[in-house]
Amino acid sequence: MVKELAWGLLLAPMVVHAETLKAERQQQLLNLLKQDCGSCHGLQFKGGLGPPLLPEALSGKPDSTLIDTIVNGRPGTAMPPWRGFLTADEAAWLVNQLRNPQ
Ligand code: HEC
Repeated sequence: MVKELAWGLLLAPMVVHAETLKAERQQQLLNLLKQDCGSCHGLQFKGGLGPPLLPEALSGKPDSTLIDTIVNGRPGTAMPPWRGFLTADEAAWLVNQLRNPQ
């Protein structure tokens, strides 16, 4: 009983912290998407140097291909690898944002 209470006290702040980080990280990723990705794909993702990333343009393309493109880039094209900046899970989250814009 005392032991469980102690764990609760120990873990509660960590959980809260993880959630704030997550929200912060989402904001960072959204900024990256707008500023860095937008510089090539267009501020509205209608295309530029890179192809459009609008939901219509991405429909029919599997998540795995898009995530791989973001993480590893496309060698021989202007699309750079982003693996130093985000994880595959985060790339998946970005693909979901692109498919379901707010
Ligand atoms: C320097 C320019 C540049 C930047 C910055 C850039 N891209 Fe790209 N991206 C491209 C180009 C060019 C292609 C097309 C590559 C090809 O010809 O296959 C592409 C392709 C893609 C594709 C595949 C689209 C499809 O229809 O298959 C996705 C998804 C993508 N980029 C996402 C991103 C995301 C997310 C970011 C930011 C983290 C980003 N790109 C930043 C140039 C860029």
